[in-house]
Amino acid sequence: MALIAIIPGDGIGPEVILQARRMLEHFRDDRKLPLKLWELDLGAERYLRDGVTFPREVFDRIRDEASAVLLGALGDPRVPNHDYARDILFGLRFGLDLYANMRPVKALADRLVPLKNRGVKDVNMVVFRENTEGIYAAMGGQFKRGTPDEIAINEDVNTRKGVERIIRAAFDYASRHGKKTVHMADKSNAMAHAHELWHRCFFEVAKEYPRVTAKHVYVDTLFLFMVQDPQQFEVIVTNNLFGDIVTDLGAGLQGGLGMAASANVHYANPKRVAMFEPVHGSAIALEGRDLANPLASFLSVGMMLAHLGWPEEEERIEGIVTRAIETGNCTPDVGGKKGTKAVGDWFLHELQNS
Ligand code: IPM
Ligand code: MN
Repeated sequence: MALIAIIPGDGIGPEVILQARRMLEHFRDDRKLPLKLWELDLGAERYLRDGVTFPREVFDRIRDEASAVLLGALGDPRVPNHDYARDILFGLRFGLDLYANMRPVKALADRLVPLKNRGVKDVNMVVFRENTEGIYAAMGGQFKRGTPDEIAINEDVNTRKGVERIIRAAFDYASRHGKKTVHMADKSNAMAHAHELWHRCFFEVAKEYPRVTAKHVYVDTLFLFMVQDPQQFEVIVTNNLFGDIVTDLGAGLQGGLGMAASANVHYANPKRVAMFEPVHGSAIALEGRDLANPLASFLSVGMMLAHLGWPEEEERIEGIVTRAIETGNCTPDVGGKKGTKAVGDWFLHELQNS
């Protein structure tokens, strides 16, 4: 039995996750997948109500009993310091040691690609974002805050173990999926200490995968090439911050944040609980307006089901998402006229009849 913890979270999170939950219920009730759903009341609302962010016993139960977590989004302007959101999101990413944030950048329809004369054949890559260290380690501090002499420091933390395992994950993925090339993006021409480690480690690990071509690219050039010639990229591996930024560019190439899915996994040990989330965030401006695109959540559920051992269900979901785009059964951000709920209804109907 696979226990799925569901954290709808903030903003549009609950709206898209409600539709994703209906899908999971379909897989449980109609397809008889052994799923047990466990919805968690965590996020800004809960924090404002009783000050609770992420209780230790909830974390422990996720770690010890759950097979996967489905997370909507975190972030709410009523809580301007994002401490509660970091408690939950980083509590999961760091606490569960989910070091590989796998973010597919795959366009499912030509018209979603905003570049001139480019289409699905040009935009099909996976970004492996390091997910447990880098600038996100929150090491550093402030000194003389609020004075003219104030200092603010965030250290960029790069460990040999952390760098090596994400690079190895990218090569392993490439070799298992018939990808010819892995690109590693760093800024070793400026960040001499930290990124020299990335550079050296990359070409060392590459030796273990002689059938995969290892290519280094500076991160600024990566951004240039992703716009000029995205077709050359199959697998990209990079650090936490660069991975965060480049996957928003990637989302732009695949039709917007409403299409971008992600998996946070302990790549070397797939039996450990993993976390799946749409990349879009809480998008407070869209909250409660039935405008949020649920397709990124559906694709994230697909990644979850594949991870749990049902890759054919991911294919089915991706096929229906593609059809949703092609037939206009989608939200306005991707050229449709339907609301969040109506897309969910249509999707469920397609699932039931496919
Ligand atoms: C993401 C988000 C988060 C990140 C924020 C909400 C902290 O942008 O998942 O891409 O930077 O990792
Ligand atoms: Mn981001």
